[in-house]
Amino acid sequence: MFKNLLATKPIAPAGHVDAGEPFEGSLDGEPTLKRTLTGTQLIMLGIGAVIGAGIFVLTGQAAAEYAGPAVMISFILAGIACAFAGLCYAEFAAMLPVSGSAYSYSYATLGEGVAWFIGWCLVLEYLFASSTVAVGWSGYLNAFLSNFDLALPTALASAPFAYENGEFLHTGGIVNLPAVLIIAAVSAVGYVGITQSAFVNSIIVAIKVSVIVLFIAFGIQYIDPANWQPFIPPSEGGNTYGVAGVLRAASVVFFAYIGFDAVSTAAGEAKNPQKDMPIGILGSLAVCTVLYIVMCGVLTGMMDFRLLGTPEPVSTALNNYPALGWLQTLVELAAIAGLSSVILVMLMAQPRIFYSMARDGLMPKLFGKVHRKYHTPYIGTVIVGIVAAALAGLMPLGLLGDIVSMGTLLAFATVCAGVMVLRFTKPDLHRPFRVPMAMVICPLGVVSCLYLFSLPFAEHWHLLIGWIIIGALIYALYGYRHSKLRNA
Ligand code: ALA
Repeated sequence: MFKNLLATKPIAPAGHVDAGEPFEGSLDGEPTLKRTLTGTQLIMLGIGAVIGAGIFVLTGQAAAEYAGPAVMISFILAGIACAFAGLCYAEFAAMLPVSGSAYSYSYATLGEGVAWFIGWCLVLEYLFASSTVAVGWSGYLNAFLSNFDLALPTALASAPFAYENGEFLHTGGIVNLPAVLIIAAVSAVGYVGITQSAFVNSIIVAIKVSVIVLFIAFGIQYIDPANWQPFIPPSEGGNTYGVAGVLRAASVVFFAYIGFDAVSTAAGEAKNPQKDMPIGILGSLAVCTVLYIVMCGVLTGMMDFRLLGTPEPVSTALNNYPALGWLQTLVELAAIAGLSSVILVMLMAQPRIFYSMARDGLMPKLFGKVHRKYHTPYIGTVIVGIVAAALAGLMPLGLLGDIVSMGTLLAFATVCAGVMVLRFTKPDLHRPFRVPMAMVICPLGVVSCLYLFSLPFAEHWHLLIGWIIIGALIYALYGYRHSKLRNA
């Protein structure tokens, strides 16, 4: 049994792939995903998935509760861990241009057991993140509508349950309707096609990046350097300020970077994945890192960090300066649009992971079906959409930011380990992109991701362990028996 869990999937040689040519077969000779995405579209996809609730919602909380103005350092630290992981993703995605991302890479290197485990962690990353961001989207929408006295009644804009101190409480809410509706709308776009999704995404990315640049350009004029003093506020015990606070904030703002890896799930649909995957992954990560660090500097320079702990910190900072009222409305609109594209890319990524798992027999076949006309994994898209909408509408998602980050960090650490393992086990494979100094970068990636993982794990370990147990049961009852690799 142990040997079975370690079975690795042979790596198909990655020959050159031309536009429109299916590289990855579909089940039973059915239609395959279509290769249409260019390098620029892939960078846009990455930025679309990355810039969202992390910068628009969590930054203020991370500054107010943990790091003060040094939240900039937290962003740099989280960015470095992501850069290590990003390089490793780039090597894999160029070498194995398939849609299963970290799941497929683990299958090829560390064995079926680890692959299933990582696939299951990616559900936390993509499916749960889309629900979490949908709840944030609903909050921004309602805040925006309230400017015109059009806000929805609380009962229709909040989940029926809250989770506090380990207990579920009834909130008086019925359903978070806007969160359900945005997931339904975005799933419909994902159903119709990756090109359409990439087009919608590119428009949204242009809007949100422009507004962030405007915020930086105008906000910089209102910086009061006194707000940056002391840069690292003296520790008040635990993770409140001091160096410990800066590190804890790094694990919180890590959420803001999640998504650049979603580019790799579109590898099956990239025109020239060997060249464009590294460009898409590393390009989107670089753009977002620079924007984040500068934006944090402006934000904490405009206002005392203790006042930034609101659900809409960027809007809160602008509210201080009546001359920037016009920008506040734009920021709210950009956040609403920006969070939608995060949901879009996450909801495209999840069915593609399931698609790969179905092709390997580890998930039911229907997840591997591709639409004849749209060439999308349509049944998976619908199922994922329904589950994500139910979670977003009904469940308390406050603490899920940490859970999403934990699942993602485990996947990142595994990808870094996988690159290293493969350098030893298959040194001669053609690698269109190579991690520089892999024997240094890969271990640093594993250690930094596991360190960031350990901080929220100390608080929420029981939830993660519960999730892993559910995954292990599903694998034992379904995946283990149906695995194509071992039944071949
Ligand atoms: N990075 C994405 C966000 O911040 C998940 O919303």
